[in-house]
Amino acid sequence: MTPVKAVPSPRKIVVFSGSGVSAESGLPTFREAGGLWRQYAWEEVASPQGWQKHPEVVLEFYNERRRLAADAQPNAAHRAIAELERDFDVVVVTQNVDDLHERAGSTRVLHVHGELVFAKGEHSGLRQRIGAAPIRMGQLCPQGSQLRPDIVWFGESIEHYDEAQAHVASAARLLVVGTSLSVFPAASLVHAAPASADKVLIAPELDGAAPQGFEWLRGKATECVPQVVARWLEAGTTSAGT
Ligand code: OAD
Repeated sequence: MTPVKAVPSPRKIVVFSGSGVSAESGLPTFREAGGLWRQYAWEEVASPQGWQKHPEVVLEFYNERRRLAADAQPNAAHRAIAELERDFDVVVVTQNVDDLHERAGSTRVLHVHGELVFAKGEHSGLRQRIGAAPIRMGQLCPQGSQLRPDIVWFGESIEHYDEAQAHVASAARLLVVGTSLSVFPAASLVHAAPASADKVLIAPELDGAAPQGFEWLRGKATECVPQVVARWLEAGTTSAGT
């Protein structure tokens, strides 16, 4: 992976997203009422221990997630984020495992918690694109190990962390949307932003305050993200906080 220089640039925008940005596309969040971790024990479906205990249950859980994500459509928030690329150097760092940012047109997306459209060999780690197809028991990678979802489970290392951190550290603007900022180390990425960066957080609710230096817009992604994007496109690089 090419190292990213953490040199602040007025054209650089980083968007850090979580499940709330896809909520209005019909995909569930995790910790709210009705969220996935209110319906399923993460230990059973999103941990190496759960996989050892009952891989077929884990596959079923993620096959359902993959099916729902494939049927979902990007919403106005995903589309507005993609529009920023018209005038800015944009990197989307997402905790989401769906591909709605890409399908809305974003071209640089780092998935720190993995991607539903990929599978990997449980021992080999060899990745292959599977798209919307389910993974079945007995389906093997080219090196002969069982395919598992390409998802970062609890207790596993997140992906692209250093690269994501360098992007955040070089951003003139940081938009955080749809995340409770409660899963680490992903959530700590927001602290890598330069003090001078223009920092906006969008979520209807948070447990506690927004991180220091953030303007918190208490609202839904499809309403607030297009407003922030319009504001930034209008301002151009002139008011960027570097
Ligand atoms: P959470 O469920 O923890 O938080 C969702 C956030 O989205 C909350 O702050 C909500 O207020 C906000 N939200 C809900 N609807 C929204 C909307 N329409 N517009 C904007 N915001 C909205 O989900 P995440 O922060 O994404 O990891 O969770 C982080 C990680 O925890 C996930 O990536 C997942 C999970 O365990 C793994 O599975 C590895």
